[in-house]
Amino acid sequence: MSKRHTSSTQVIPAVGTMPQHVAIIMDGNGRWAKKRFLPRVAGHQRGVETVREMVKACISRDIKYLTLFAFSSENWRRPVEEVSFLLGLFVRMLQSEIGKLDANGVRLKVVGDLSAFEPRLVALVREGEATTANNTALTLTICANYGGRWDVLQALNHMTLAHPEKAGSFGEADLAPHLAMAYAPEPDLFIRTGGEQRISNFLLWQLAYSEFYFTDTLWPDFDDTALEQAIVSYRYRERRFGRTSEQLVAVAKASDA
Ligand code: IPE
Ligand code: IPE
Ligand code: MG
Repeated sequence: MSKRHTSSTQVIPAVGTMPQHVAIIMDGNGRWAKKRFLPRVAGHQRGVETVREMVKACISRDIKYLTLFAFSSENWRRPVEEVSFLLGLFVRMLQSEIGKLDANGVRLKVVGDLSAFEPRLVALVREGEATTANNTALTLTICANYGGRWDVLQALNHMTLAHPEKAGSFGEADLAPHLAMAYAPEPDLFIRTGGEQRISNFLLWQLAYSEFYFTDTLWPDFDDTALEQAIVSYRYRERRFGRTSEQLVAVAKASDA
C-alpha cells in the first residue's frame, strides 16, 4: 500500500494545549444594534471594543495569531451607506490604533483584495504594517475584502506564473506559500459569533482541520470570558487529523517515556 502524505496538517498538538492561532468571524453587530433600536452601524462601532478586548485577551494568553474577518468580498452587496461606514471605520481605526498596537508588540497584517479600496486606505494599511512589522507578541490579521475562493485563486495564479514548467504536478506545498496568510500556521480554533453556522467564504483552504466553535453571543457582547469558554471547549477536543484515538495515545506515551 502506498503511503500518501498529501496533507499540510502533519503536526498534532497534544490535547489540552492552547491554540496558537484563533480565527474569528465577527458576526451579529447589526442584530446587536437592532435589539437596542439603534442603526446597524452602531453595532459595528460597538464591535470595535470587542476587537480591542480580543487583542488584549490573546496577548495575555500568549496566543500568537489572531485573525478577524472584518469585511468579506460579498459584503459589498450591503446598502451603500453601511459599506461606506465600514470603510470609514476601518480608516479611523488605522489612524487611531496603530500606535497602541505597536506599543503592545502587535504585528498588524491586512489580507484581502486591497485593489478595490481607495489609495488613502491602502497607504494607511501599508504604513501600519510597516510600522509594526518587527513586533512579536501577537500577529493580528484583519481580513478585508477577503474571500476564501479569492485567496485560493490568487495563490493558484501566482504559483502557476512562478513555475509554469510544473503544470500538472503541483502539490499542496507548492500552493501554500502563495496563500495570503502564508506567514501564519493554519488556525487551530475557528470561532463564529452571532449564531450562524457557516463559513461565509472565510479561510477555505486553511480551515481544513481547524476546530469549529459556534456561539449565539453577538460580537459586541463577546468578551474575555466568552473567549475563555471557546478555548476550554477547544482544549477538551482530540485532534486526530485522520488517525485513530489509539494511535494518538500511543504517540503521547512514547513522547512521555
Ligand atoms: C458582522 O456583523 C460585521 C460585518 C459583516 C462587517 P453583521 O453586520 O453581519 O451583523 P448581523 O449579522 O446583521 O447581525
Ligand atoms: C461574514 O459575515 C463576514 C464578516 C464577518 C466580515 P456576514 O454576516 O456577512 O455573513 P453572511 O452573509 O450572513 O453569511
Ligand atoms: Mg452577519
